[in-house]
Amino acid sequence: LHVERFRALLAQRYGWQYDDSKLEQLEDVLRRRIEATTQTSYESYVERLLSSSFSVAEGQALAERLTVPETYFFRNDDHFRALAALVLPERLRLRASEKRLRILSAGCASGEEAYSIAIQLRELMPELSSWDVSILGIDLNPVVLKKAREARYSTWSLRATSDERKHRWFHSEGSDFVVDPTVRQMVRFEERNLVSDDAHFWRSLGCDVVFCRNVLMYFTAERMAAVVHSLHDALAPDGYLFLGHAETLRNVSQEFHLCHTHETFYYQRRGPGDDVRSLPLVVRTTPTAAAVATTDAIESGTSAPWFDAIHSASARIASLTRGGPPTDAPRPMTTSDTPAQATSTTRQWDLAAVLEAMAVENFAGALEQLRALPDDAHQDPDALLVRAVLLTHSGQLVDAEEMCARVLAQDALSAGAHYVLALCREHAGDIAGARERNQTAVYLDASFAMPRLHLGLLARRAGDVVTALRELGQAAILLAREDASRVLLFGGGFSREALLRLCKQELRALGGEP
Ligand SMILES: C[S@@+](CC[C@H](N)C(=O)[O-])C[C@H]1O[C@@H](n2cnc3c(N)ncnc32)[C@H](O)[C@@H]1O
Repeated sequence: LHVERFRALLAQRYGWQYDDSKLEQLEDVLRRRIEATTQTSYESYVERLLSSSFSVAEGQALAERLTVPETYFFRNDDHFRALAALVLPERLRLRASEKRLRILSAGCASGEEAYSIAIQLRELMPELSSWDVSILGIDLNPVVLKKAREARYSTWSLRATSDERKHRWFHSEGSDFVVDPTVRQMVRFEERNLVSDDAHFWRSLGCDVVFCRNVLMYFTAERMAAVVHSLHDALAPDGYLFLGHAETLRNVSQEFHLCHTHETFYYQRRGPGDDVRSLPLVVRTTPTAAAVATTDAIESGTSAPWFDAIHSASARIASLTRGGPPTDAPRPMTTSDTPAQATSTTRQWDLAAVLEAMAVENFAGALEQLRALPDDAHQDPDALLVRAVLLTHSGQLVDAEEMCARVLAQDALSAGAHYVLALCREHAGDIAGARERNQTAVYLDASFAMPRLHLGLLARRAGDVVTALRELGQAAILLAREDASRVLLFGGGFSREALLRLCKQELRALGGEP
C-alpha cells in the first residue's frame, strides 16, 4: 500500500511512470530514502514528500536513483541534420534584426545535448559574437548537472562525434575531452522540475528551439501532456520542438505541426487559428479501372499496387456472397487514433453498425450507414476516417484524400489518416509520397502493422531488399497482435491470416526467414 502511494506521488510530482514490475525497486528506494532522511515511518516520509520545500531536495535525490541519465554528443544525428539545414537557418533569419536566439534542452542530463546544439550553431554561424545566444539546459538531477557544468567527457560520450569535431571543439586532458570555452559560454544549466506549473517561467523563455528528448517516454500520459503544454508556452511562435525517436505527440497535443525532413520527425508550434500544415493532400487523379488481381493474386506475391488489390477485393466481395462475419469481430469503437477520447464519450451515436457492415464486406452498406448518422457525425474524425477507408474501397480516391485532410485538420497526428493517404498516393503513382505517409504513420504509431507492410512492399518493388526484409519482418510480428478492429478497418478487406500469409510469402521470396 505504501509503495503504491509512493508510486502515485512520483507520478504526480515528477511525472515518472512505473509499472508493477518496478514495485520491488521502488520499495527498496523508499526504504533507503526513509533511512537517509531519518524519518520514522513510511507515512511521515510520504507526508513530508507532499510538502513543497522537501519535495524539491528529495526530488533531486530520487532522480539520482530513479531516472535514466543516459546521453551522448550528437545523439540521433538526423535531428542535428534537420537542425543545421532547416531549423537554425530559419530561426536565424527570423531573428536577424534583434540578433537574439534562445534554445532549451529540457531533461539535459550531463549536458551533451546542449553542447551539441551549441557546436552545431557555431559551425553554422562562425560569427556569432554580435548575437545574444543562450542555450539553457534544465534537469532535476544535480549530480548530472554538476558534470554538465564541468564539461569534461570520456570518449564514450563522444562515440557519435566525428574526429574533426573532436579536434575542433574539445581539448584533451588525460583521457578526457573538455569542451572549448567558446562553446561553453553559450550554455548554462539550471536545476528545475519539468513538472512545474510555473507558467511565468515557461512563458518568459521565448525559445526558438526546444529539445526534450528521451525524457517524456518515462512519464505518465497526464504529466506528459502537461509538460508538452509547458514546452509549447516556452516556445516563440513557429518555434521547433524535438522529441526522442520513441516519443510522439499523438493523442497528447494538437498544439504543434508535424515536420518530416532529413529522415526524421519533429514539431513546430502552431499559431492561434493556424491550419494544420500538411503535404499537398488533394491530388487530381482518376482511379484506374479495378485491376483483375484477386486476393489470390496478392497472396501469390505479384506485388500488385495495394490499391488495386483492395479495389479488386471490393469487386470480388460485391460479386460473391460469403458466409458470416470474419472471426475478427469488430469492437464497437473504431480506431486507436481517436484524437480526443472525449468525443467518443459525449457523442450520441457510434460506428458499430458501420463496422458490422464492413465486417461482412458490405462496403456500400457501410457507406449508407455512415450517411444515415446524425449531422454531428459528419465532422467527427473517427467517422471521417472510416468514410475515407470506404471511399478507397470504392475507388473514390480524390474524395478519400479530402476526408483524410479533414481528419488531419482536427488531428494532425492521426496515424490512420496518414496511412489511408499513403494508399491514395500509391495509387496516384506518387511512390515517394506513399512512402512518406507510411513512414509518418509508423512514426506516430510504432505498433501499426499495415503501413509497415506497405513500406515493405514498396521497398521490394524498388529492389531495396534490406528495407523490404526489415519492414515485412516487423509487419509480420505486429500483424499477429494487431488490434482486430484495425485489421478490419485498414486491412483492405483481408483477414489477419491472409495478411500474415502475404507477409511470409514476400519474406520467403526475398530469401528471408518468415
Ligand atoms: C535519458 S536522459 C535524456 C538526456 C538527453 N535529453 C538525451 O536525449 O540524450 C533523461 C533526463 O531527464 C531528467 N528528468 C526526468 N524527469 C525530470 C523532471 N521531472 N524534471 C527535470 N528533469 C527530469 C533525468 O534526470 C535525466 O537526466
